[in-house]
Amino acid sequence: MSEYASTHAADPDQIPRFAVFGSPIAHSRSPLIHRRFGEESGIALNYTAVECRAGELDAALAKFVHAGGRGANITMPHKFDALAACAAVSDRARRAGVVNTLRRDGDAWFGDNTDGSGLINDIAERHRIDLRSRRVLILGAGGAAQGVLPAVFDSGVDSIVICNRTPDRADRLADLIGEPTRVRTVYWDDLRDAGMFDLIINATSAGHGQGMMDLPFSLAGRRTVAYDLSYGTAALAFLAWARAAHCEHALDGLGMLVEQAADSFEVWHGIRPDTEAVYRELRAGA
Ligand SMILES: NC(=O)c1ccc[n+]([C@@H]2O[C@H](COP(=O)([O-])OP(=O)(O)OC[C@H]3O[C@@H](n4cnc5c(N)ncnc54)[C@H](OP(=O)(O)O)[C@@H]3O)[C@@H](O)[C@H]2O)c1
Repeated sequence: MSEYASTHAADPDQIPRFAVFGSPIAHSRSPLIHRRFGEESGIALNYTAVECRAGELDAALAKFVHAGGRGANITMPHKFDALAACAAVSDRARRAGVVNTLRRDGDAWFGDNTDGSGLINDIAERHRIDLRSRRVLILGAGGAAQGVLPAVFDSGVDSIVICNRTPDRADRLADLIGEPTRVRTVYWDDLRDAGMFDLIINATSAGHGQGMMDLPFSLAGRRTVAYDLSYGTAALAFLAWARAAHCEHALDGLGMLVEQAADSFEVWHGIRPDTEAVYRELRAGA
């Protein structure tokens, strides 16, 4: 149980502060999720969403610490900068090279990454999908793709192909794993000839903008699992493509969101909350 549990609950100024930093952040469900986890676990906490544009993370974190900040989630576009802000990181964050969870230890940040465990938990535990021997396509090479790549690689898949609008970033991501026979890249224009995949992960932020990605139906078959890390309206276009391509599963990232949050909660408070109730609440449209 957390050192913070109940001890400060009576005085609002003493309640430990947590926050998610990113841009755009208005859509974030993290404050609701962590409030529910706190209620379920009997841990008093104050969790807010902080709009923070590219290049502003260090200043925002300094202000947050001054106000009593104890832990933070980091989302796009700051996951690379968050690593640089840490004095120490977990093995999984070091391997991923990006951080989505910060914990204040003394006068420095400890960094972790729970995106990969959150994704694998959602696919393998909630949706009961066996990832072993799957051919995987990852679309995107930003902070989220980088965060989940080592966990996807470790989950027993056969191979991973990475495709990104900016090809250099895909190459750098593949090099991170350093297993060229199992992790390679493909140009977007060559996707038509890339064959069929058993799992297609959309780790782009394309759904947050106007344009729909140009994806050939030849990528998917009736056994394909299509998974968009985004959720809500940002996931609609990719999931519509997946259904039109007759994928077996078309899943959004809401379950991953809840699972990675539970893992972050454990990093801060030492216990992992049950995720099902808040997942159902969000799925019902909360
Ligand atoms: N469910 C969860 O818990 C969870 C966790 C983390 C992230 N996410 C979601 O994952 C997505 C990516 O986040 P991130 O942190 O990786 O963002 P990021 O670091 O900004 O990276 C964005 C990626 O999307 C690509 N992209 C953007 N617009 C595109 C377009 N129109 N067509 C093709 N590719 C495009 C970028 O390609 P370039 O390199 O060419 O710019 C880059 O690879 C976001 O939607 C985020 O909400 C969900």
